[in-house]
Amino acid sequence: MHILIIGGGGVVGQKLAHSLAKRCELRGQAISKITLADIADPAMVDAPFEVACVACDISQPDSVEAILGADIDVIYHLAAIVSAHAEEDFDAGLSINLMGTLNLLRGVSKLQTKPVVVFTSSIAVYGGEVPDPILDHTFLNPQTSYGAQKAMGELLINDFSRKGYIDGRSFRLPTISVRPGKPNRAASSFMSSILREPLNGQEAICPVSDDFPHYYLSLRKCVENLILGAEIDASDLGLNRCMMMPGKMWTIRQMIDAMTAVAGPGPAKLIRFEEQAAIQEIVKGWRYDLRPEKSLKLGLSADESFRDNIRYYLEDDKPVV
Ligand SMILES: NC(=O)c1ccc[n+]([C@@H]2O[C@H](COP(=O)([O-])OP(=O)(O)OC[C@H]3O[C@@H](n4cnc5c(N)ncnc54)[C@H](O)[C@@H]3O)[C@@H](O)[C@H]2O)c1
Repeated sequence: MHILIIGGGGVVGQKLAHSLAKRCELRGQAISKITLADIADPAMVDAPFEVACVACDISQPDSVEAILGADIDVIYHLAAIVSAHAEEDFDAGLSINLMGTLNLLRGVSKLQTKPVVVFTSSIAVYGGEVPDPILDHTFLNPQTSYGAQKAMGELLINDFSRKGYIDGRSFRLPTISVRPGKPNRAASSFMSSILREPLNGQEAICPVSDDFPHYYLSLRKCVENLILGAEIDASDLGLNRCMMMPGKMWTIRQMIDAMTAVAGPGPAKLIRFEEQAAIQEIVKGWRYDLRPEKSLKLGLSADESFRDNIRYYLEDDKPVV
């Protein structure tokens, strides 16, 4: 089994590769090779099988086709520019998030090998004048370019699957918190930095009030779900291969209280509340009351409590000083 992870240098891609390297099998077959592809060579991952790290720009059809081969069984398509970035640079969002996905799927269709393709969409596909709660059959009404580009990617996943070119599946990821690493250009970046920085002894600014609710998942659970997502039998997916990934709704206050319960009272004292209009403008359109019944039935799951999200960050990702 050869697995290609595009966006393999990113936070989810690296964690997924480490998890697969420990697991050594997917879809009942031993993994013989993982290829990590990203705009710049991704960091190497230790594994008991071959790991290749390659540079690839998905906005360029030739660059994508150069990394595709008939021996690839499963492709994780995680490459994207995130919400605030795609909002600031409309052209880059179109070339990478939309055309990059199309370039990949067209390249794969030429192989005629029908690999499993797992696409990471986002709950940013929801929004606007749509009643709560968000159910499996709720229509997509994105209120950002990023959300629109992910929604278009989902249609492509469904259509290329219907044509028999791929065995696609797409999961609308909740916001990952606590996301390790540095702040990124997602409007949701603060939803991790208000916890991650204090847990690392640094100050952080919260740009929304503490009753702000949102829909979250830990990185550990997200990776478990992406692995399960690749293993679902195509016949169980039905006529829509795109679904929510389970998460849970928490307010900023509940998240901070969970951090205090796990790590003591010190970190919460490092958070300063400073409302920021530009961030609020984007995040206020996002939805938090989601009911992911289809993916729950298929075996995917959410964290039990936000204390788990904090614990997983401390166990898996907190830098050792
Ligand atoms: N982390 C979250 O909270 C979250 C929530 C919803 C959806 N998602 C989606 O999940 C996926 C993974 O998220 P992440 O948190 O690991 O993001 P990330 O930014 O860490 O990783 C994305 C990777 O894509 C790469 N990339 C960007 N442009 C590229 C190009 N032209 N060619 C090749 N690679 C390119 C980046 O270099 C980066 O390494 C993304 O598609 C993202 O939109 C993430």
